[in-house]
Amino acid sequence: MKITSLLALLFIASNTISQTWSDDVAQIVYDKCAQCHHTGGVGPFPLVTYSETTPMAAAMASAINGERMPPWPPNNNYQQYVHDRSLSPTEETTILDWIANGTPEGVAANTPPPPVFSTGSLLGNGDLELQIPTYMSKATTSDDYVCFAISSGLPQDRVIRAVEIVPGNSEIVHHALIYLDPNGGNVTDTVGGNCGGPNSPTTELIMGYTPGSSPMVLPSVSPLKMGMNFPANGQIVFAMHYPEGSYGMYDSTKVIFHFYPLGETGIRPVSTARLLENWTFSLPPNQITSVSDVYPNVGTLPSDFSLISVFPHMHLLGKSMEIYGILPSLDTLKLIDIPDWDFEWQDFYFFKNLQKAEQGTKLHADAVFDNTAANPNNPSSPPVTVGAGLNTTDEMMLGFMHFMSYLPGDENYNMDSLLNLSTVSLIEESQVDKLFTAYPNPFTNGINLYSPNLKSGDVLSVYVYDLEGRRIARLMENARLTSSELLLEWDGTGEDGSTVSNGMYYISVRLNGELSNHRVIKH
Ligand code: HEC
Repeated sequence: MKITSLLALLFIASNTISQTWSDDVAQIVYDKCAQCHHTGGVGPFPLVTYSETTPMAAAMASAINGERMPPWPPNNNYQQYVHDRSLSPTEETTILDWIANGTPEGVAANTPPPPVFSTGSLLGNGDLELQIPTYMSKATTSDDYVCFAISSGLPQDRVIRAVEIVPGNSEIVHHALIYLDPNGGNVTDTVGGNCGGPNSPTTELIMGYTPGSSPMVLPSVSPLKMGMNFPANGQIVFAMHYPEGSYGMYDSTKVIFHFYPLGETGIRPVSTARLLENWTFSLPPNQITSVSDVYPNVGTLPSDFSLISVFPHMHLLGKSMEIYGILPSLDTLKLIDIPDWDFEWQDFYFFKNLQKAEQGTKLHADAVFDNTAANPNNPSSPPVTVGAGLNTTDEMMLGFMHFMSYLPGDENYNMDSLLNLSTVSLIEESQVDKLFTAYPNPFTNGINLYSPNLKSGDVLSVYVYDLEGRRIARLMENARLTSSELLLEWDGTGEDGSTVSNGMYYISVRLNGELSNHRVIKH
């Protein structure tokens, strides 16, 4: 008897010391909480170090049990996505057990090194960077929605392989949607505070940013290269959302595009479209109403498609949304189920495996709206009739998707690993460029080339080439440096003294024999 209870005690004791911060919990918190919960991040307090995390233990347990944190609205039993933010069941138990056991630290020296969060870009320099002017949020007691139309000055058509949105002020950018406007018809709208997006029908949503979301990297390495077209002189429209209470704070968000090299072959063209949309519904007050849509409206898909992502969109009265296809076999192609819609957390969800919507499929979206007083997000008290529209107090029912024509084998690609490989190759390429920064880019009258990474004694040549490889200007040739910093300026004058025409150029830097190229745009 005595032995059994001793054993039981031993068992309990060994169980209680099994979860420690250093050995079990730190890495999970780094991976699943800290990307938002760090100083300067969107989370209201940091969760990075042991001393930051332990005082929050009770709140963490409540947020995890209440399924509020990490924010991840999709139902993972329905479909799986890359960049899944949710806790796996084991991770969840590990954190909760650790909290229940009084948050033991373990051996501090064994704690894995905390992640470093850059406020800038993750992917590094791209080929085209467009930034909104510094804007002061007007959001006092309601949110501020504004749109900025920025022309790209892109001299020729390019193919996008990655897009990164870098918030200027990550504490106040609640979301940013980036649209491509090929015809340049949209204008900046910061007056009414209710611009939900461009209203020109030719614009295409490219991607969106919400706190904690990842850059959009398309697979760009063999065997799968995907790209989206960016037409010459296309305009970008930023639809920005600043939350209530951010009044007086400043932001200047930018988007960085990474293009395939000119002439790259074998790229599968990707499109985005709001395939599912319903603009004719009306939501009577004090009722729960279902709204649906199908695509195509008449008949079924005329050929096979590979679906890459899905982005369900509703406003404040949204309650749930399910998007799926009915295949010719009458089986269901499950795309997304958001059982508990949260306007604050919406995203493009990229499938872990491309979803084959074969010829003969019909796509469906079923949404439910709660226009009762019991909906805490209802903007009207008492509730009023609400119809479809662009303002946040109107409603929307949309399902955007990235998709492309299907090729046999598409459904077998492992998107997680292809995306990781593509991201690594992008970062490696952009690090070469980090030797120098060029600003502003695009430039009009003058561009500065700045490098803090040089050593006295380095030998440096800097040339400018056009896209055909012709040398346009010679800024430095085999110069031996006497300082560790260098600032060079180029005013766009060619070797023959004339001003070069607008377009894209390479600034080519040869440092101690090693070459790196920088793409810059004069406009
Ligand atoms: C994608 C960004 C993001 C991630 C990832 C995230 N949080 Fe949060 N968290 C927020 C934001 C923003 C708030 C404040 C607004 C809100 O409550 O939605 C918040 C609020 C909280 C709160 C206080 C409010 C509440 O709901 O209880 C706790 C506790 C919390 N987070 C814990 C965590 C833990 C633990 C993790 C990891 C398991 C985590 N968060 C992951 C963004 C994030």
